[in-house]
Amino acid sequence: MPVQSICCIGAGYVGGPTCAVIAAKCPHITVTVTDSNAARIEQWNSDILPIYEPGLEELVKRCRGVNLFFSTDVKGAVKKADLIFISVNTPTKVKGAAGEVGLAPDLQYVELAARTIAREAKEGLTLVVEKSTVPVRAAATISEMLASANRPGVSFQVLSNPEFLSEGTAIKNLLHPDRVLIGGENQQAISDLADIYAAWVPRERILETSTWSSELSKLVANALLAQRISSINAASELCEMTGANVSEVAKAVGMDSRIGPKFLNPSIGFGGSCFHKDIMSLVYLCKHYHLPENAEYWQDIINMNTHQRVRFCRKIVSSLFNTVSHKKIAVFGFAFKKDTGDTRESSSIVVADYLIGEGAEVFIYDPKVPDRQILTDLKLPQITKEISPGVITPEGIVDKSVHICRDPYDAARGAHAVVVCTEWDEFTTLDYQVIYDSMQKPAFLFDGRMILNHDTLMKIGFRVHCIGKSL
Ligand code: NAD
Ligand code: UGA
Repeated sequence: MPVQSICCIGAGYVGGPTCAVIAAKCPHITVTVTDSNAARIEQWNSDILPIYEPGLEELVKRCRGVNLFFSTDVKGAVKKADLIFISVNTPTKVKGAAGEVGLAPDLQYVELAARTIAREAKEGLTLVVEKSTVPVRAAATISEMLASANRPGVSFQVLSNPEFLSEGTAIKNLLHPDRVLIGGENQQAISDLADIYAAWVPRERILETSTWSSELSKLVANALLAQRISSINAASELCEMTGANVSEVAKAVGMDSRIGPKFLNPSIGFGGSCFHKDIMSLVYLCKHYHLPENAEYWQDIINMNTHQRVRFCRKIVSSLFNTVSHKKIAVFGFAFKKDTGDTRESSSIVVADYLIGEGAEVFIYDPKVPDRQILTDLKLPQITKEISPGVITPEGIVDKSVHICRDPYDAARGAHAVVVCTEWDEFTTLDYQVIYDSMQKPAFLFDGRMILNHDTLMKIGFRVHCIGKSL
């Protein structure tokens, strides 16, 4: 039977955009996106959506109330669904056994979702699809929970269907995916899910594998992507020592078709909710299976990321005559990358936190991150505390030292330094002469994303520091 009704549990960065695209491409399917967070659902039903993604608002407004619905009634939507996406968060464990905290993913939300499905699913067969990123063999645990409800006439097939979208390009990625990956053991169930995607994805891009290969592919894909960034960041430090230019190196190596040009942008380190957590999940798996060399190999990707963040922060302080105490520093960008308002694990948090810790006054501008989010991130950082473990900037200091600005000119006025943390396009077209004229002298500029024209900035008079090139 073709799927006619979909329920998605989890209305986040994955659940919302994915279901909006399915609803737009499959008008014959009713899609209900549910979440236990009532405020989030209210936002999905309002004019101001809870997340910013180019192209998302238009899709939601077109389909909402037609075949796309947002609801807090998880049970009600589960009862009606032929297919249920589990799209809940799977953060790294912060509580539990010593060997698990900071490594293993916390599957409590997946378990809650599975138990709700087990209790509430309609009679007959329901497809349960893991959209969340989970450890290998999670499908077996989910199947066990579903079976334990032991309801006669109710049956399930569990599929793995990991999501590969990137924030900021989610709609583009969902509309034109490199591949859709479906892992499962039951061919009919796989075909039923594949048929949904086939409404807009060419069949040759829909890849079928075993459940375990599908689950592991997601973790390995993220680890390989992060590894490229850590590799180019490692090269960037060597460039600074030797007089090479990392942009030229990235271009030269990326022209080798075996390497390819993407994901070789040097930076102040990768952020985002997934790279760190998914690599730690891989490290945990390796440890679990007694593969210490493997665990160490993946762990080094994170170690290099931490090193890159730390050395960027240290460079700011040492360039500013070894102290930023009572100095005014403008931070351009707080999101973990451009075109999103998401700040989870953003390197900007690390930079701002470090500067505040050194006594600076920080003036932050970001075009999409809400003010309260910036303050929350700095007061109660959810970020992995790598640079100064245990130092969580006290609330009072944040209130005193952090200022949120309406535009970048405002942030830079009277500042000793500008630090570019996020690669927002608008930072490339600012009038840096105006910014320079309004700053204290000597005026420093730290380009943590290699997006500005450094020669022009130096001609204006800035003392410029960047990643992977000595100036
Ligand atoms: P998110 O935190 O934005 O959204 C998850 C939502 O699930 C939250 O709104 C939460 O309230 C809700 N939720 C949790 N438990 C629930 C329950 N039992 N019932 C109802 N609602 C519940 O997370 P996200 O960024 O969308 O990520 C979801 C999963 O997808 C994660 O496993 C993540 O690793 C993976 N993923 C994320 C991205 C991304 O770009 N963010 C990309 C690919 C994969
Ligand atoms: C990443 C993956 O790219 C997605 O395929 C995956 O689905 C997702 O994680 C996930 O599982 O959550 P995302 O974190 O949204 O997507 O964004 P990316 O574009 O991968 O960027 C991650 C971080 O790396 C950002 O901080 C970005 O600025 C940084 N980055 C990226 C670099 O420093 N250099 C690069 O060349 C590319």
